[in-house]
Amino acid sequence: MPTDPADPTAAPARPQPARLGLGTAAVGRPGYITLGRDTDLPAERTVDALRRRTHDLLDAAYAAGVRYLDTARSYGRAEEFLAQWLTEHPEAAAEVTVGSKWGYTYTADWQTTGVGAHEVKEHSTAVFDRQIRETRALLGEHLDVYLVHSVVPGSPALTDPALHERLAALAAEGVRVGLSTSGPAQGDTIREALAVTVDGRPLFTAVQATWNLLETSAAPALAEAHAAGWLVVVKEGMANGRLAGRNATGPDTAALRALAARTGTGPDALALAAAAAQPWADIVLSGAATLDQLASNLTAARVHPDPQDLAALDAMAEPAQAYWRTRSQLPWA
Ligand SMILES: NC(=O)c1ccc[n+]([C@@H]2O[C@H](COP(=O)([O-])OP(=O)(O)OC[C@H]3O[C@@H](n4cnc5c(N)ncnc54)[C@H](OP(=O)(O)O)[C@@H]3O)[C@@H](O)[C@H]2O)c1
Repeated sequence: MPTDPADPTAAPARPQPARLGLGTAAVGRPGYITLGRDTDLPAERTVDALRRRTHDLLDAAYAAGVRYLDTARSYGRAEEFLAQWLTEHPEAAAEVTVGSKWGYTYTADWQTTGVGAHEVKEHSTAVFDRQIRETRALLGEHLDVYLVHSVVPGSPALTDPALHERLAALAAEGVRVGLSTSGPAQGDTIREALAVTVDGRPLFTAVQATWNLLETSAAPALAEAHAAGWLVVVKEGMANGRLAGRNATGPDTAALRALAARTGTGPDALALAAAAAQPWADIVLSGAATLDQLASNLTAARVHPDPQDLAALDAMAEPAQAYWRTRSQLPWA
């Protein structure tokens, strides 16, 4: 696994920072499910503190070559923080691709505890009409990709003709329309979405899906989406922090630790590099909450697992049902 970019014997698949993106789920609101928030975020998670944190991460990511930025209506004030940063950095705004999502409404009112639900999902035309207005008011023409948030089988996003008409109209304005997926049936969802047409033309052209060393089940469907010309974005490449250094301590991550130690890299970067090595992956998101995490995550661009390395990590994969059961038990904090 060569890590020196100048090494002429380096493996051919060489992810550049531009293939790494930055997600804002962990910093746009005080509460989320990633694992070390008590130590990684300021004790006072005020709006101003998280705005500063988001802007610092965006500055550092852009300076390192990151050109894909991911947000969502439901990430608290993340769209607003990103919009401010884009306004203050017109040169960056001209270069980055901005993706957002609609379909979840943020309901936690900047609280972390004593909240019934932090977000409420509804893939209806009424929610789309409201949220595209809200997103456009903040991100305006910077909106490049708009995804239905966390689609699972049975979502109206896959079947509602009125919603499809609206999404097709947005696509006609030049926005790439797609979906993010979650749950053990991601592959079925992606294949159903691949078949959706409006006036005989495919509607969706982008997907953001969970793929990591513990949950690989969506890979065949993501390969089909990539082959169909979709933009394929990988989220949760570190399994919500389970594959990052201090959390990757159990037997389930022994292979990752061993390879990281052997190659002088961090488990987090290796986990992201494994995602970037998938032939169908266009962008792999870092969900960093701190500048140190971001710097560590971005070293993934210099790590090139060869097929033998990747094969040694295959055994880490869990049955999809078990993976998503564990994820559903992660507390919001
Ligand atoms: N349904 C959807 O569409 C959906 C769902 C989830 C995420 N996303 C998008 O995907 C992005 C990335 O996913 P994610 O943030 O959920 O998951 P992730 O990338 O699997 O995990 C990120 C978390 O791992 C921890 N971490 C990262 N590097 C670390 C390091 N070097 N050392 C220790 N801990 C480290 C941090 O959490 P702590 O600081 O808390 O430890 C960080 O917030 C999100 O920001 C969001 O934009 C979309």
